[in-house]
Amino acid sequence: MKKIAKFIALTAMIATSCALNGEVLPTPQTTGGMPLMQAMQERKSQRDIDPASTVTKQDLSNMLWAAWGITHDGKRTIATAMNRQELELYVITATEISRYSAEDNTLTVVNTGDFRAIQARQDWAKTAPINIALVVNTDKQQRDEFQNYTAGAASHAIYLYCASAGLKTTVRAMLDNKEVEQAMKLGENQRLLYIQTVGR
Ligand SMILES: Cc1cc2nc3c(=O)[nH]c(=O)nc-3n(C[C@H](O)[C@H](O)[C@H](O)COP(=O)(O)O)c2cc1C
Repeated sequence: MKKIAKFIALTAMIATSCALNGEVLPTPQTTGGMPLMQAMQERKSQRDIDPASTVTKQDLSNMLWAAWGITHDGKRTIATAMNRQELELYVITATEISRYSAEDNTLTVVNTGDFRAIQARQDWAKTAPINIALVVNTDKQQRDEFQNYTAGAASHAIYLYCASAGLKTTVRAMLDNKEVEQAMKLGENQRLLYIQTVGR
């Protein structure tokens, strides 16, 4: 009896800690939106983002799914060489840095605080509400050209989603990598390629 009670208590504890660790995002809207050809026509880099602007959790969920959602046979919205699926997405906001998990549609906080000033060299990106860091796991994919393709494809999906949703975005490669990698608590096997800023 005691063993069963212990098991139930342990299971409840694990369930609670899982719920606390990851914020569940709204279910991504995987139909509708602007016609594809029109979104392609309207895609562009925009830097005049209002620091007071906000991005809804629904839009955030949709754009993360567009970039890296799971669609067919456990595969993704974008192609990856040999299906290595080496991409990892982080979201940098005014209050925290979180890691996205497409499997359970959650954001898990990896660091608390406003790190927007160190994740950008350009002033307009230091105050924008959302920044999506595109990171690759170099254990999963060793070849640079394939890593670069993966991050580029995900960035383009974010561009198209933003065009469709009326959001402003620009991808950035001009970064102070060391500082931001530290804030993101990246390991030796994680390579930061770009950060994509989003707002209105
Ligand atoms: C790999 C890559 C890196 C970029 N890095 C930056 C950057 O650090 N800062 C920036 O303001 N724009 C950056 N851009 C955006 C380009 O300047 C922009 O795409 C280009 O001027 C063409 O404009 P468009 O995106 O509106 O077509 C980058 C774009 C790419 C593809």
